[in-house]
Amino acid sequence: MTESFEVKPLGTALGAEIIGLDLAQPFGDNTAQALLGALGENGVIVFRDQLLTPEQHRAVAQALGRININRFFPTVEGHPDIAEVRKEPGQTSNIGSEWHTDHSYDTEPALGSLLYARDVPPTGGDTIFASMYAAYESLSDGLKAALATLRAVHSSAHVFGEAALSSDELKGVFANADSANQFSTHPMVIHHPTSGRSALYVNPEFTLRIEGWSDEESAALLNYLYQQATKPEFTLRLGWANNTLAIWDNRATWHLAVNDYHGHRRLMHRITLEGCVLEAAAA
Ligand code: SIN
Repeated sequence: MTESFEVKPLGTALGAEIIGLDLAQPFGDNTAQALLGALGENGVIVFRDQLLTPEQHRAVAQALGRININRFFPTVEGHPDIAEVRKEPGQTSNIGSEWHTDHSYDTEPALGSLLYARDVPPTGGDTIFASMYAAYESLSDGLKAALATLRAVHSSAHVFGEAALSSDELKGVFANADSANQFSTHPMVIHHPTSGRSALYVNPEFTLRIEGWSDEESAALLNYLYQQATKPEFTLRLGWANNTLAIWDNRATWHLAVNDYHGHRRLMHRITLEGCVLEAAAA
């Protein structure tokens, strides 16, 4: 059975709201495939006013793919496959405040995540997404040709390792610092596994350098790409309300959690989906 739904664009470069589905109800494989198609095209899809228990949240994830258990995030009590993204009123640091795409340090980076808003602050706490399709398409043909030959090295160690956690608060939040030893290389421009589009695949948080280049040489090109990728016209700012579910595609987007709500709680539940090896886009 295929449930019908509307895909309403939210931004010029990326993002769409899915209207007409009640995710508390099971949906069939055709609908799952249609949602994955909308995700691959739009980078992030948003569902408003969804009343979901953790079990229903998990059922939505399982309809779309296989669940990946994050090594470093705290989990929801009784639900080891649901990560908790929490900031309490007394805390000043938040999770995800730098531009990143999740798990790029893995050899098979996660497909994406389903982030569900359980308790959002009265104002603030938005998430900003950036389109890596738009970033790539904005480059000159000469730079696109050069990038097609390059791979970049990504790591978890400098973000989740013992020495790296930037504040005592975050040290207490993340787990398994001694397992933060992943290093992977990926093409700098990938062929998106479902949309077939070319996407820039480096990010400020987890990318260390361009393979075979010095840190200094890498920084010069990477910083240019980062500046290009975060141009406002390539981004979407998502304001949350309780019971909003957003699903993003890590191969097509970056995201950043805005930390502008000190003194208030923000509690989100995140389920991450397994991905695959990323192939280079054709030059
Ligand atoms: C994350 O980076 O996974 C968290 C995003 C958010 O809390 O908005």
